[in-house]
Amino acid sequence: MTKSIRTAPAPKGTGTLTTVDGVRHARIWGVGAYRPERVVPNSELVDRIDSTDQWIRDRSGIISRRRAARDESIIDMAEHAARDALAAAGLEPSQVGAILISTVTHLLSTPAAAPMLAERLGVQCPAFDVSAACAGYCYGISLANDMVRGGSAEHVLVIGVEKLSDFTDYDDRGSAFIFGDGAGAAVVGPSDTPGIGPTIWGSDGAQWQAIRQREPWLDAAGAPLDGHAVLTMAGQTVFRWAVWGMAPIAQQAIDKAGITIDDLDAFLPHQANMRIIDAMIKQLKLPADIPVARDIAETANTSAASIPLATERMLREGEIPHGGLALQIGFGAGLVYAAQVIVLP
Ligand code: UT7
Repeated sequence: MTKSIRTAPAPKGTGTLTTVDGVRHARIWGVGAYRPERVVPNSELVDRIDSTDQWIRDRSGIISRRRAARDESIIDMAEHAARDALAAAGLEPSQVGAILISTVTHLLSTPAAAPMLAERLGVQCPAFDVSAACAGYCYGISLANDMVRGGSAEHVLVIGVEKLSDFTDYDDRGSAFIFGDGAGAAVVGPSDTPGIGPTIWGSDGAQWQAIRQREPWLDAAGAPLDGHAVLTMAGQTVFRWAVWGMAPIAQQAIDKAGITIDDLDAFLPHQANMRIIDAMIKQLKLPADIPVARDIAETANTSAASIPLATERMLREGEIPHGGLALQIGFGAGLVYAAQVIVLP
């Protein structure tokens, strides 16, 4: 028996949609940061992984990291960084048109962290999370740029926040020492001149196993798994990918922005490993007088928070100039990456 197929009605063809008017350019107007109070030196971690302070310093450049208090959530940390960024931009929370939180350590699959933060700030704007691991902040800046230029929001709050201590296996030699907690934020809004260059971004999903939550939430039979949902990392695989793969991406971001490397006032790479940063500098042939983010020494790897944390510190300490050009690049679990040149707030 053949099934009768309805003939779809013809479109009415009478309506023309009204679209929103965007702006030609966007830029970052302010950055903010939150570093949890507790400092955890390498010496606190080494016994459980049969390591030494010297080995961790030599292989990663990390001296210490911040750890959030047990009752301190990513929403708490995001709120501090968000208020700090809004103050730097000279804006009130009521002027926020959208909130975008980049994180992989929110403890609920739903709802997202962003609407919870919106409630804290007393606003009811569009709010959603981005899961792009250590590239999350650069993904967020790219989206915010497009939102402002497209007219879907006037000012967008982009936050990178992680409480990686909740997801760390402190008995795992390959990762126990690498992660830290913190939050960084930026406010993106309209500008008369270009403030965010084209984003070079992508993914290499064939390597999804290289950094991952060790187990899914349920086992193969669908039963909740005992034990902790910790992260695991094939360190050397990621190290090689970052060292050889990311410098060309950074160079493309420079080229697409229509500048040369000599025009940069800052290089702000994701803080994954000091040796990766040094290797990228070498491959890019970055001039020696351009300041480089080396926040990893005292902040460790805070994934989506690492670039805004480093940016805030370098601006506050007068190491890089307001209004200067900075190259930022994030890369991590997915594997995913994103790079762009920005005008510093
Ligand atoms: O943020 C997202 C992106 N993440 C990254 O980009 C992280 C990339 N990976 C890394 O940063 C590095 O791979 C690590 C810092 C995680 C590890 O450094 P590595 O130089 O790749 O160490 P390895 O795994 O190659 O190990 C070297 C040696 C081995 O000993 P042998 O075989 O040479 O005798 C390990 O057994 O170091 C040993 N080792 C350790 N020794 C003391 C491994 N882990 C430790 C440890 N303490 N924690």
